[in-house]
Amino acid sequence: MGNEKNIPTHIAIIMDGNGRWAKSKGKERFEGHIEGVVSVKACIKAARKRGVRYLTLYAFSTENWGRPQAEVDALMQLFCKSVTKETPELIEQGVRVQIIGRRDRFSEEVRERLLHIEESTKEGDKLTLVLAFDYSSRDELVRATRTVADKVQRGELRAEEINDAVISAHLDTAGIPDPDLIIRTSGECRLSNFLLWQASYAEMYFPQTMWPDFREEEFDKALEIYALRERRYGLL
Ligand code: IPE
Ligand code: IPE
Ligand code: MG
Repeated sequence: MGNEKNIPTHIAIIMDGNGRWAKSKGKERFEGHIEGVVSVKACIKAARKRGVRYLTLYAFSTENWGRPQAEVDALMQLFCKSVTKETPELIEQGVRVQIIGRRDRFSEEVRERLLHIEESTKEGDKLTLVLAFDYSSRDELVRATRTVADKVQRGELRAEEINDAVISAHLDTAGIPDPDLIIRTSGECRLSNFLLWQASYAEMYFPQTMWPDFREEEFDKALEIYALRERRYGLL
């Protein structure tokens, strides 16, 4: 739930449109991804400045593995390079990094880097930056369901004890409040397997802006739009 100034506690962003941004400028798709990293940094700063406590960024979906190998490789490298490079500044800014999604399909090197980033930023208390990498909501729900079923089978949990809270606690986002606002850039109006459970009562905002152009001003505009929304949660 948002705080008194109506600033969302948790904003989740589907960073879309890097390829189209690049194409419109006669550049390679990959250049759009590189420029997108600049937007990531701008949004982290803006979120911190405005008092947003959680910022979740959809960086690579389970389905994105199906893109041409060269693009997949480039995205993996860019992700690892950027988070490693930015870690000192994130620590300085008080940003804690948490990574959600599968880890088992990454190389040992990538896995270790991800663990290192989480470990070295864990004292950050200004903003939690949640990076969804090899993430899809259905995959997360399948993994959570297996864990819960396993607990029932071993007698650690009774089936009738399973409720909303139990499911939430077994998702990758356990302990993270549900998003108040979900933004998807580039004008596409779909969730593409992102936070399906957690999005139950999220406000949605679909700006036309391509992700590489989504900077502080656009971020502030999203906050303004959110502040005007009336959330009813099924009540009168
Ligand atoms: C979003 O931009 C970044 C990722 C999905 C990794 P796209 O690469 O999807 O760019 P478009 O949608 O093709 O323009
Ligand atoms: C969603 O964007 C995934 C990320 C932003 C990481 P896509 O570009 O992959 O989604 P679709 O294919 O348009 O639904
Ligand atoms: Mg896309």
